[in-house]
Amino acid sequence: LRNKYLGLIAEAADEAALEELRVAALGKKGEISLQMRELGKMTPEERKEAGPKLNALKDEVNAALAAKKAALADAALDERLKAEWLDVTLPGRPRRQGTIHPVSQVWEEVTAIFADMGFAVAEGPQVESDWYNFDSLNIPSHHPARAEMDTFYMHRAEGDERPPHVLRTHTSPVQIRHMETYGAPCRVIAPGRVYRADYDQTHTPMFHQVEGLALGRDISMANLKWVLESFFSAYFGTDVKTRFRASHFPFTEPSAEVDIQCSFEGGTVKVGEGDDWLEVLGSGMVHPHVLRSGGIDPDEWQGFAFGMGIDRIAMLKYGIPDLRAFFDSDLRWLRHYGFGA
Ligand code: PHE
Repeated sequence: LRNKYLGLIAEAADEAALEELRVAALGKKGEISLQMRELGKMTPEERKEAGPKLNALKDEVNAALAAKKAALADAALDERLKAEWLDVTLPGRPRRQGTIHPVSQVWEEVTAIFADMGFAVAEGPQVESDWYNFDSLNIPSHHPARAEMDTFYMHRAEGDERPPHVLRTHTSPVQIRHMETYGAPCRVIAPGRVYRADYDQTHTPMFHQVEGLALGRDISMANLKWVLESFFSAYFGTDVKTRFRASHFPFTEPSAEVDIQCSFEGGTVKVGEGDDWLEVLGSGMVHPHVLRSGGIDPDEWQGFAFGMGIDRIAMLKYGIPDLRAFFDSDLRWLRHYGFGA
């Protein structure tokens, strides 16, 4: 029996064959198991003789099975190692690296330039109350400026008569929130997302503005002009002249739209040279009503405010003709302009 099984185990070709042999020898009805059952019928003397032998046989067969199983596994692994191999001399696959979106880059750059001039960053919510977005800024409900803004209104429950919240149409409400919390004097910018229902080559329903607010006892339009010219010169990396045109905003008095010097020759816009002008922002001296909305005494404090399109100046800097492309998330486009991964 011993030779029979040890021989068969040595010759087994695979694990399945081994398992068959185990059942034949040591399974419930296996040859060795049956013999062990016979032990009960023997006399004590016979059992003393046969018992240890059978146990030893059982152990030996079990050990042979385990050894053969390990040997088979080793052989299988050897086989695989020979068949599968890795060519470590092949060049690696190139990996693309992610980069910062142009609008985010400009946002950060704008923040850094104003920080150099002592401006801190203020923030406000994108879902704004009617009061912060309009009334506090001297735009009462019947004012035409409301209609012009293409405002997105939030839904109110049936029977709720309160004025609806809006997606802020500009960053100007952050002026009021900042005044309420920190008072005067102050020097802050408020970059952020704003929303208007408008869509064409130069308008998207979501876009970015940066608001500026400086309050003090004698801050004037001259300070505004210096700050803006310093900003544009730093941002475009060349001296940039500005032109102030008298305008009207409900929240500033007087108000000015500001153009930067540029040339349109050859179909591309070049900033800082030529005799053309391009409008880039609205500004003015903060209206006394607006100061009062923010809890500030207009007899003691005055200052300027401005609001500028971040996407707009990003388009100018990188020569991008269509604003909508900023928000298409098309990696080919981003790569073409040197941004994409
Ligand atoms: N809020 C104005 C706009 O969105 C810009 C502006 C800001 C003008 C501050 C004057 C002062 O068009």
